[in-house]
Amino acid sequence: MNTPIGIFDSGVGGTSIWKEINRLLPSEATVYLADSRNAPYGNKSKEAISALAVKNTELLLSYNCKLIVVACNTATTNAIGFLRKTYPVPFVGIEPAIKPAALQTRTKKVGVLATQGTLSSALFYNTAKLHASGITVIEREGKGLVELIETGKQQSEETRNLLKEYLQPMLEAGIDCLVLGCTHYPYLVPTLKTILPEHIKIIDSGEAVARQTKALLQERNLAASPNTVPKHQFYSNADVAVLSSFVKDPVIQVSFLDF
Ligand code: DGL
Repeated sequence: MNTPIGIFDSGVGGTSIWKEINRLLPSEATVYLADSRNAPYGNKSKEAISALAVKNTELLLSYNCKLIVVACNTATTNAIGFLRKTYPVPFVGIEPAIKPAALQTRTKKVGVLATQGTLSSALFYNTAKLHASGITVIEREGKGLVELIETGKQQSEETRNLLKEYLQPMLEAGIDCLVLGCTHYPYLVPTLKTILPEHIKIIDSGEAVARQTKALLQERNLAASPNTVPKHQFYSNADVAVLSSFVKDPVIQVSFLDF
């Protein structure tokens, strides 16, 4: 089926997921919504996050999307249950990669950097309880990081200083895995590498989301015909130039849309 995959995030962070999906599924068309005007989602209530997720989902459905990727940990952990109950299309969500970290850690100490909305969600709590028993999980809210990334400052001194502050207690506790629980944070990896000792593994869920998307498309007979040259549409309701700088593909058109 050659209709597009819909992807949304509170802003530019979900482009890190789009890149994984596009790498694994090069024939699939996509529509990406960056709801940057409402970023960050992370400190909003569950109800407010659900309302934004509904708005984005309904817009993607108006583009005839066959499957929707909620490329935002905060929206997934707060709203995916409701979305799945309400709309007939399949949804793929993203959650902090606690399980892979729990399997890889040797020190039995894992750090999780995520938004307040994700860390306080029932889904995160249940996942951590299920997969991280016997492991110390050191959580930290990445307060302010989404705003810095949304303004293209992911490699600034300000960002580096915030990260140093947030990671210090994790380093003191002896973590050997750091889970990036927000789709904006993969863009912090170059800065993180200047702070973290080399033996600490940085783990995110992007590739797993792409694999899950592929599996669902196959299972539901929704995959695009092979060798299709797909169309990609990117929309931002704020600064289009910032979204373009994250997409980094001159062929792909990024447009303003008032949503
Ligand atoms: N990319 C979103 C996430 O994965 C950022 C949340 C926010 O806007 O605070 O959680």
